[in-house]
Amino acid sequence: MRLKIIKLIKKKNKLPIVCLTAYSKNISKILDKYCDVILIGDSLGNVLYNMKSTRNVTLDMMIKHAQSVKAGIKKSLCVVDMPFNTYNNKKEALINAKKIIKQTRCDAVKIESNKKNFNIIKHLIKSKIQVMGHIGYTPQYKKKFKIEGTSDAEEVKLINEAKKIESAGAFSIVLECIAPNTSKKITSSIKIPTIGIGSSKYCDGQILVTDDMIGLSGFKPKFVKKYVNINKIIDKSVKKYSKDVVNRKFPKASNSY
Ligand code: KIV
Repeated sequence: MRLKIIKLIKKKNKLPIVCLTAYSKNISKILDKYCDVILIGDSLGNVLYNMKSTRNVTLDMMIKHAQSVKAGIKKSLCVVDMPFNTYNNKKEALINAKKIIKQTRCDAVKIESNKKNFNIIKHLIKSKIQVMGHIGYTPQYKKKFKIEGTSDAEEVKLINEAKKIESAGAFSIVLECIAPNTSKKITSSIKIPTIGIGSSKYCDGQILVTDDMIGLSGFKPKFVKKYVNINKIIDKSVKKYSKDVVNRKFPKASNSY
């Protein structure tokens, strides 16, 4: 695992780091061939469970999905989001991070920093748990969507936040929906890689929610490039299946024992 993280850090300033989210084994098995990092994101609350906020995602949900995802991974770095209310203090964060690592065999956890979780990150790292930070638009703490880092004052705060996360020992930071120039400055101000989502080409790597990228979730913000409309493909197949069943065209003798 340490080797995977060292390799990732070495990629900074060379080839961009490729990351995507996964919530299940069938998807992670495909992503593993092309990704450096696979994240079990708490976005699964919105994407799979129709929750209004990621705040309702539980530790058990994250562990169950991470166990499934891990079963499809051979080489990528596997990172699991710590859900809201599971890292309120050092003791709680350590118990829950250890539970995630032990039960899922993932390589690292991700924590939304909320401008103050630096001591928690430091504490986990002291206990040999690898941590990825997350700044900018952090859904666990921000109710309303907004591009971050658009003013000079916000830019300074974000750069300081990134530096503090780096000093705490995190191996990488997700920059979510941060203005391009600010992302560029953050990336050049720290040595650990930045992974952008809606944060421009200036990050060391990119991440998207896979379900958005393949058109399954129906969520289409500007920063998502939709590579396929998988919904259309599934729709067509199910329609055909339904017709076949109704018209007694399925199952055929070749589908029977
Ligand atoms: O929860 C998630 O999927 C994330 C990514 C959007 C970075 O945190």
